[in-house]
Amino acid sequence: MNDLARRIGRVGVLYGGVSSEREISLASGDAVGEALQRLSIENTMIDVADNVLTQLEDVKPARVFIALHGSGGEDGTIQGLLECLRIPYTGSGVVASALAMDKLRCKLMWRGSGLPTADFLRLDSESDWLATLEILGGEIVVKPCREGSSIGMTIVQDPQDLRDAWRHAKEFDKEVMAERRLTGDEYTVAILDGKALPAIRISTDSEFYDFDAKYHSNQTRYHCPSGLSKNRERELLDLCMNAFKSLGCRGWGRVDVMTDENGAFCLLEVNTVPGMTSHSLVPKAANSADISFDQLVLKIIEASL
Ligand SMILES: Nc1ncnc2c1ncn2[C@@H]1O[C@H](COP(=O)(O)OP(=O)(O)OP(=O)(O)O)[C@@H](O)[C@H]1O
Ligand SMILES: [Mg+2]
Repeated sequence: MNDLARRIGRVGVLYGGVSSEREISLASGDAVGEALQRLSIENTMIDVADNVLTQLEDVKPARVFIALHGSGGEDGTIQGLLECLRIPYTGSGVVASALAMDKLRCKLMWRGSGLPTADFLRLDSESDWLATLEILGGEIVVKPCREGSSIGMTIVQDPQDLRDAWRHAKEFDKEVMAERRLTGDEYTVAILDGKALPAIRISTDSEFYDFDAKYHSNQTRYHCPSGLSKNRERELLDLCMNAFKSLGCRGWGRVDVMTDENGAFCLLEVNTVPGMTSHSLVPKAANSADISFDQLVLKIIEASL
């Protein structure tokens, strides 16, 4: 066993789970596990769908790589369990994970910190649909507060459609929000060990970067370098670092941003456990900074040492 492998010890890769992003997490976990094999680091794959506590007690990992997306894995709950068990883990802690998962409270934090994000309102059965649309500029995005992969989202212009969009989003989370629709370009910025990696600009032929555009379409294009001027790229990376830090996030993550009609950057959300398949966005950004997939996995683990 080499020195590094000895220092790291057995890594439990937590993956799968029961969120709506289970399939993506299985793919992320497999990719991480394969990288650990190549790096000769001892590892055990742990599907947290059943009896995670018993499995952790059996495996006794020295540390855990969290490759879980969405609720139960990215929202602070598994992080809390690992804190109780005193098992070190990759990525953000309990509070930062919970805040980042909850788009509504995350945006409240950003507003409080003076960071730019599109106007938004919480929706419930009492909401005035017409007023909501008027206040938010006539065109809005309705989304479940705690979901991922664009699940449950609808773009709405007509008050008649707003109730249906709200009901649809509510199937995925108790809390639903509406956000002013941004019409500019879309970017995502990976963060690794306290530094932002080069931004990726995403373009799609779909109405927005929806589930299909994310995982199935071959019409979605990823531009890295982003095409921004040096100063604008710096501005974007600084904004994303500040957004990440304002929630208390650590280790690694990915910040999603869009520009408004004036070209101003607006924060969409932070992912504290972004996708980790070979064609996911963080590995793409790492690659453009000459960091291989295996080195990326290692850096994420080293940040937890
Ligand atoms: N206010 C907005 N205006 C225009 N498009 C938006 C807006 N909010 C979200 N979108 C589109 O919907 C996509 C998904 O939104 P968002 O990143 O908020 O949710 P998510 O489902 O958590 O995403 P992820 O898969 O990155 O976890 C964005 O990538 C963007 O294309
Ligand atoms: Mg997103």
